[in-house]
Amino acid sequence: MRHLPEREYDPNLLVGLDTSDDAGVYKLTEDLAMIQTVDFFTPIVDDPYMFGQIAAANSLSDVYAMGGRPTTVMNIVGFPIAVLGHDVLAEILKGAADKVKESGAVLVGGHSIDDAEPKFGLSVTGLVHPSKVFKNVGAKPGDALVLTKQIGVGIQTTAIKKDKLTPEQLQLVSDTMAELNKTAAECLEGFSPNAVTDVTGFGLLGHAAEMAKGTGNITIHVNFDDVPLLPGTKELAKEGIVPGGSKANHRWIKEDVKYGDHLEQWQQHILCDAVTSGGLLVSMPKEEAEEYIKRLHDKGRQHASIVGRVTELNDKPIMAN
Ligand code: CO
Ligand code: CO
Repeated sequence: MRHLPEREYDPNLLVGLDTSDDAGVYKLTEDLAMIQTVDFFTPIVDDPYMFGQIAAANSLSDVYAMGGRPTTVMNIVGFPIAVLGHDVLAEILKGAADKVKESGAVLVGGHSIDDAEPKFGLSVTGLVHPSKVFKNVGAKPGDALVLTKQIGVGIQTTAIKKDKLTPEQLQLVSDTMAELNKTAAECLEGFSPNAVTDVTGFGLLGHAAEMAKGTGNITIHVNFDDVPLLPGTKELAKEGIVPGGSKANHRWIKEDVKYGDHLEQWQQHILCDAVTSGGLLVSMPKEEAEEYIKRLHDKGRQHASIVGRVTELNDKPIMAN
């Protein structure tokens, strides 16, 4: 994106390319702004209906991460129809449509092309009040850091390909990815979060580093033992079942992170593990964070946890212990 020509200044563009935030936000009127985002990827599970649900939940997530409500979506499809047939595609589209319905948004169209490798996702448009947009920067010393879903998704989906997951583990990682961030976003109503993003490809520490560096002059402290993990993640990581993307994250953010001496490489890899359709990462005042966690637990989001805290800048933007 940095190779694009510098945009012309438009005062209505509230969030654009320059902040690596989750989605673009454009002000339409004094009390209404439009959120736009798009995402698509290749299948990460074999079940086409589940893949459709996951791809939709992932695409919708960036609207929730900006504090918005998704309103309309369009399907983006690349598919080898002659090889895989209409039934498989129909299942993908049905999975997505069911998630879109759950979100309250409406499918208005889409576009498909013939493609050797299947790809699917959504473009999503949402609405938000211009003064209630969540940004991925603005965390304040004294904040607690909340994560609303378990991590370990990259490690577990890699284990699928090596036939190392039990059916129960496969179901759990799939359900985790397919879970909308709708409840996590709605439970923030009435609180004043200072920074919000969703955890995806850069992993927990990668997205935390964006938050810390984008904010400036703060350190985000993450406690490994407090981070909710999908069951079996530790064992898989110890065995070295870690996707290339997660190792790349680990390398890319090395300069920004200080790891505690006791954190072994497999633990560092878990903290950097690339996520598909992860939870919200919220920096908010500590007392609010505790209330927020209670609300989430009451709504059945029992894995939501306080995973760290924010201080003034202390050596590195991220300290993991
Ligand atoms: Co995002
Ligand atoms: Co995204």
